[in-house]
Amino acid sequence: MPIQWFPGHMHSTKKAITERLPEIDVVIELLDARLPGSSANPLLAELTQGKPALKVLNKQDLADPELTALWLAHYQAQPGTQALGLDASMTAPARQLIAACRALAPLRGGMVKPLRVLICGIPNVGKSTLINTLVGQRATKTGDEPGITKTEQKLVLASDFYLYDTPGMLWPRIIVEQSGYHLAASGGIGRNAYDEEEVALELLARVRQRYADRLQARYKLADISALADDAVLADIGRRRGGLRAGGQVNLQKAGEIAINDFRSGAWGGITLESPAEYLQWLAAGQARDAERQAKRDARNRKPTPQRDIDAAARAAKAQAPESAESPEAPEPPND
Ligand code: G4P
Repeated sequence: MPIQWFPGHMHSTKKAITERLPEIDVVIELLDARLPGSSANPLLAELTQGKPALKVLNKQDLADPELTALWLAHYQAQPGTQALGLDASMTAPARQLIAACRALAPLRGGMVKPLRVLICGIPNVGKSTLINTLVGQRATKTGDEPGITKTEQKLVLASDFYLYDTPGMLWPRIIVEQSGYHLAASGGIGRNAYDEEEVALELLARVRQRYADRLQARYKLADISALADDAVLADIGRRRGGLRAGGQVNLQKAGEIAINDFRSGAWGGITLESPAEYLQWLAAGQARDAERQAKRDARNRKPTPQRDIDAAARAAKAQAPESAESPEAPEPPND
């Protein structure tokens, strides 16, 4: 079943971003390098259209370097956009990000025109880790100055470099089915919104296409190419102690093991989607979405049933002033 996830607080976040945007020079969007397309936020792209953008592929230590290179090239080719891969806990690369922002807004800088940067990202993508790394000893946090809401943070990373961190999160409708599974597998979606066995099966189906050898090595499995996904999951459960009393495999437990191993990098650097794959899914998802919308519109255009017309006429008549003549007014009683 496709995953949907609406964590709430969307309205206030959208409002906070929209209010801050006019004075922002560069927008940093933090993405998960293992699923850059799925962890991007189309709503943010809509809100920040035309602003110079820095796409940060975080957790690159957990991703496949070849695919990270493809994604970086994909973003670099977009107008007004820079991209870089990062492991948010490492200080020096995090400082590269400041240089990249300066390159995106060369006319800003200096005390008179400080560079103002907004940082956004879906939950669990590593925003707090990156901010902590960037802040280090050097920056000051200023949460209560005029124009800064209580929950919004303004971090002064250099005397002419301000980083704004808006609270809450923006979450778009997931229109790419695969994205729901990739987000769940990576930890970007709340635990209650998905079923571990289902997500693990989708994850294995995806991972074995490029990295079957890693799964075989990790769980000491023989050639898995002829096995169905649930048979692979069952084998993982058997190998890793995911068994019920009586020796039956607990697929839920096996699913948890597989997902945790993926998240911790135990399968090596894995990326779940290439730019070409993601764009294809996106096009298909958008076409399905447009079709659903067209059906909804058509339903809303259906002619009003006669009984509703009659009811509306009766209601109008009941409200009409007494003096109003109506050809349909009932005859007064005859007695
Ligand atoms: P958020 O603010 O965007 O919600 O994310 P946060 O920084 O809390 O990071 C979410 C998890 O991702 C944390 O792990 C964090 O350590 C990890 N993380 C962040 N950046 C990187 C990175 O570049 N590489 C790797 N490998 N991990 C990263 P956690 O398990 O939830 O917490 P903890 O055990 O690290 O404390």
